Amino acid sequence: MSQQSLSVKRDGFTSSFGVLAATLGSAVGLGNIWKFPYMTGANGGAGFLLVYLLATLLIGLPVMIAEITLGRQAKANPITTLQRLAPRGQPWWLIGAFGMLAAFLIMSFYSEVVAWVFAYILKAIDGSILSSDPQVTGAAFGALISDPRQSLLWQWGVLIFIGGILLCGVSKGIEAVTKKLMPLLFLLLLMLCAVSLSLEKASEGLAFLFQPDFSKITGSVVLMAMGLAFFKLSIGMGTMMTYGSYFRDDQNIPATTVRVMAADLFVSMLAGIAIFPAVFTFGFEPAAGPSLVFITIPAVFAQIPMGHLLMVVFFVLAAVAATGAMLSLLEVPVAIIHERFGLSRKKATLISLLILALMGSTCALTNSTLADFKLFGMTMFDLFDYLSSNIILPAGGIFVALFVGWVWGFDKLKLALSNHGALANDRLVRVLFFLLRYVSPLLILLVMLKGLGLF
Ligand code: TRP
Repeated sequence: MSQQSLSVKRDGFTSSFGVLAATLGSAVGLGNIWKFPYMTGANGGAGFLLVYLLATLLIGLPVMIAEITLGRQAKANPITTLQRLAPRGQPWWLIGAFGMLAAFLIMSFYSEVVAWVFAYILKAIDGSILSSDPQVTGAAFGALISDPRQSLLWQWGVLIFIGGILLCGVSKGIEAVTKKLMPLLFLLLLMLCAVSLSLEKASEGLAFLFQPDFSKITGSVVLMAMGLAFFKLSIGMGTMMTYGSYFRDDQNIPATTVRVMAADLFVSMLAGIAIFPAVFTFGFEPAAGPSLVFITIPAVFAQIPMGHLLMVVFFVLAAVAATGAMLSLLEVPVAIIHERFGLSRKKATLISLLILALMGSTCALTNSTLADFKLFGMTMFDLFDYLSSNIILPAGGIFVALFVGWVWGFDKLKLALSNHGALANDRLVRVLFFLLRYVSPLLILLVMLKGLGLF
């Protein structure tokens, strides 16, 4: 089959809203509902938020635009994309290969947190986690995560659910599902915010979120904020390249990206607004860490009028957010295996799920059977999270920026971003190119070295 007929047949997003929903669906996820609140809580609130914002604008946005542009240009999975666009013999495709590794690492722990969320929907419905005593909600959480059978079954259930959607394809699977889920997400979130803001000590929670305390900002906190920016925008590992390859040729990439970034930030803020006022009103610890959502939140809801219903809403919301993100993560290996090895999409999905079930089990069992199994002093769950967010994603970001800034070059970037002259965005492309060529790679490198304690 010639390349021409291959690319004609290639599935992709069909409408502008579909592009937006799918891309936003990837960005919005447990990063907003779970990571963002606990990291902000643990690192001093607004100060962390400010660093996160800077990292998003100076690094996240340019890298995200670069990834989407490369993907749309080559219309292929990340490995093939970089092979097609790079000069012969240069190993830039390794970005795609490492991206696939990162996808598996991230999904391994991510799918386990999604598993807890799905399990919590049932627990919220039957009321078994409805207690105002954090000891009780803590014990319920502990019982779930330390039970190897439940952990594995819920995780595999999640994998089958996500794999099932991917089997329907890009437009009929990913696009169709995220188009329905994204509006639902906003609706549920706004509802929760309204309730939270009506609580007695709402202003204390808001102050925590919006008043900066710079004393908490150290090198490793900056690295964490940057890692979160990468994680939030799904960049540094080929997810956005893969989705970019499904973008339509007339899509305005910078405008879409800015919208996705802004909406993603908005969702994170809303999650913070839904969570912190309630946490403060009932005298809980905002810095509870990863368990904030699973222990503190149920205890908070138990004390709110209609709390039972709202708690169901909260975990459904988290599940909705997680679904779009999981889809985009799994799509990376599926696209690579499907296109590189010439296997059907179905086979590629099954192979990816199988690998994931094996790798993910080490994270699912991290609080039970494998609790004492540690590398570099970390459980597999923490190690996979640390390695991906703080090393592979930033490194991937550096190389994507360097590739566009020094190899692909200004003229090609301009042609692609202006949709071959249809858009007048010359100034914007110049700023972007400057950021990609010099600012982003240097900044990422500095933050990485500093955060890892290397200087
Ligand atoms: N952005 C998603 C979230 O916030 C997670 C995610 C999806 C992701 N795809 C990714 C993170 C690719 C890193 C890389 O939950």
